[in-house]
Amino acid sequence: MKLLVTGGAGFIGSNFVHYVIANTSHHVTVLDKLTYAGNLESLKGLPSERFRFVKGDIADAALVDELVAEADAVVHYAAESHNDNSLHDPRPFLDTNIIGTYTLIEAARRHGTRFHHISTDEVYGDLELDDPARFTEQTPYNPSSPYSSTKAGSDLLVRAWVRSFGLQATISNCSNNYGPYQHVEKFIPRQITNVIDGVRPKLYGKGENVRDWIHANDHSSAVLTILDKGEIGETYLIGADGEQNNKDVVELILEEMGQPRDAYDHVVDRPGHDLRYAIDSTKLRNELGWKPEYSDFEAGLAATIAWYRENEGWWRPQKAATEAKYKEQGQ
Ligand SMILES: NC(=O)c1ccc[n+]([C@@H]2O[C@H](COP(=O)([O-])OP(=O)(O)OC[C@H]3O[C@@H](n4cnc5c(N)ncnc54)[C@H](O)[C@@H]3O)[C@@H](O)[C@H]2O)c1
Repeated sequence: MKLLVTGGAGFIGSNFVHYVIANTSHHVTVLDKLTYAGNLESLKGLPSERFRFVKGDIADAALVDELVAEADAVVHYAAESHNDNSLHDPRPFLDTNIIGTYTLIEAARRHGTRFHHISTDEVYGDLELDDPARFTEQTPYNPSSPYSSTKAGSDLLVRAWVRSFGLQATISNCSNNYGPYQHVEKFIPRQITNVIDGVRPKLYGKGENVRDWIHANDHSSAVLTILDKGEIGETYLIGADGEQNNKDVVELILEEMGQPRDAYDHVVDRPGHDLRYAIDSTKLRNELGWKPEYSDFEAGLAATIAWYRENEGWWRPQKAATEAKYKEQGQ
């Protein structure tokens, strides 16, 4: 199969491309604008006979039409993805997440191309800390931030294009990913690289917020399963039962990196910070037979820490500018 992967130079997209090249015989074309979040270094070493990179914007209708016409399937990861940025400047989130997705599904509709839309559990808003409930495919949408509301909007566009125009699409909403190639602005890599730099990690508020962590490779295997066996028009939630609060994650990172567990500082909380996300992935497991490989969060985290230690050349160029931006925001 010839796959067009949008956003393939970003965190999850690049992990997906490596996973596809290692585990299938598919050919991959990546379309990526190389925003601050895209990094060609994340795609180094891929075989040129099965991999091609195209720099461009998913909102560029002519380019998108040409690439979609050549593809058997589109896997759409490209997005503005950082909540904090969306609170400071929402506009790029609308341009990429809404207009970019619209441009892609119009092309997929014209060419009858299979389309898989990557989304997030953040479209469902949040759960109370003491609520035993988890998100399911039936949970009503209730996004909190400009980021999650534009992702919710893009999901609804895809659903409407399936219903109105017969778009051959599936959607997945995944919980928080961790693993290699994640930008140092994000929670886990920021803390790891701060510790490497001898800087105390920074925890938003009390650190009680719970995230449901999944290794990026498990996200990739789930997406391939949905591409292969998913039913058109269906949404699948992807999660690996990895609930942890932020405080525990920081303490685990410190412990794994040989520091005292309490060697971190609290900083002012993010406005509207979602309390808890938790995914029930029963549908994906029962209907499509998927299961995660990385069930031990501590082991996955240790491997991720080792990756950041061994790949300083990958993250170092972004570190100072990222911290300067956080400092400006008082975080
Ligand atoms: N990070 C998570 O934990 C998580 C969880 C669930 C779902 N998701 C979803 O997965 C997808 C990828 O997330 P990520 O964390 O890898 O993001 P990321 O910010 O690391 O990467 C996004 C990529 O998209 C590219 N891009 C941005 N705007 C573009 C445009 N207009 N045209 C072409 N390329 C563009 C960037 O250059 C970058 O390479 C997003 O759709 C996100 O909503 C992320």
